[in-house]
Amino acid sequence: MMRTTLSVIKADIGSLAGHHTVHPDTMAVANKVLAEAKRTGIIVDYYITHVGDDLELIMTHTRGALDTKVHETAWNAFKEAARIARDLGLYAAGQDLLSDSFSGNVKGLGPGVAEMEFEERQSEPVAIFMADKTEPGAFNLPVYKMFADPFNTAGLVIDPALHGGFKFDVLDVYEGEGVTLNTPDELYDLLALIGTVGRYVIRRVWRRQDDLLASTVSIERLNLIAGKYVGKDDPVLVVRLQHGLPALGEVLEAFSFPHLVAGWMRGSHYGPLMPVSQRDARATRFDGPPRLIGLGFNIKNARLVGPSDLFDDPAFDGARKQAVEITDYMRRHGPFMPHRLEPAEMEYTTLSLVLEKLKDRFKREEDVAKAKQSIYSKESNE
Ligand code: F6R
Ligand code: MG
Ligand code: MG
Repeated sequence: MMRTTLSVIKADIGSLAGHHTVHPDTMAVANKVLAEAKRTGIIVDYYITHVGDDLELIMTHTRGALDTKVHETAWNAFKEAARIARDLGLYAAGQDLLSDSFSGNVKGLGPGVAEMEFEERQSEPVAIFMADKTEPGAFNLPVYKMFADPFNTAGLVIDPALHGGFKFDVLDVYEGEGVTLNTPDELYDLLALIGTVGRYVIRRVWRRQDDLLASTVSIERLNLIAGKYVGKDDPVLVVRLQHGLPALGEVLEAFSFPHLVAGWMRGSHYGPLMPVSQRDARATRFDGPPRLIGLGFNIKNARLVGPSDLFDDPAFDGARKQAVEITDYMRRHGPFMPHRLEPAEMEYTTLSLVLEKLKDRFKREEDVAKAKQSIYSKESNE
């Protein structure tokens, strides 16, 4: 039985009018690279899109995850796109390409990667979610809802195939260590970790009864790779759907609540994750608000059939309206927490440069008191 691999690889290679939207010419040149890889049989099929300033390459093939040729194809597409971005004078051209040379695969070189290899079911529906101005942990809450919350996913209660629960692989992105937890039995343990979204990231989900791989998230945290702020790690989530997995509608339901995520303006603010159509996949207000697009496909013999633009629908108008209300509310906090991120997260931003300048001006309370005392005694001696 042929195994199919779905590889979604993304990078910010520069954008139009600020960190706003990908230029069509950069997508066109990436298209050329992928078309050639399809012609020569490296990949079977592909689809190129963008969310905000992130160029997204969706590729199908039969070469497995972390394949050198597939990753090299993506790398070359990004390099070419960055070259065009430079020619056009686009902003932050080549931003996420942290290295000049390619070695084996794109992991650690800047791009985000979500890949899954599987045996195609008779029909293989999948949804791919791509977000801008946020980080991989942004998917913790919705993925939890899809696979573990019976108030979101009716199938967990009703369908015997889901009733056995799911297995979550959670990565500690600081330590580089993972742990696997089973739901529903270890639900509270799972939540104890994944509520800390900047540190514990759901990386994969399997169905417990047969270890079927159901979902995968890109877990690269660019700042942790580069050691300084280089833009947030706008993440990707792939979910297999239906027939003993959450239905498309149950998966989409998880995004009907525009929860607060980190990564807005300068990677330094919390804001609501707003589900939008492809047409609205551009960062605008305060470089956001953080945006999410979703594309639905079927995969047949590694061919991509689709997509359907999943949030291009009035059923999500309510979530968008709520996101705009939350945006107004959060923005009124200006530079104050909890709109602005907590200090540990701000270490990877330019705030540390500002604080550094003030360091020598801090005086201990006792020293100030002593200084005052000596002025006073000097005056009284005169
Ligand atoms: C957030 C993001 C933007 C930039 C902001 C400042 O992930 O990409 O909000 O941080 O536009 O960008 P610079 O410093 O490049 O002017
Ligand atoms: Mg950018
Ligand atoms: Mg981005």
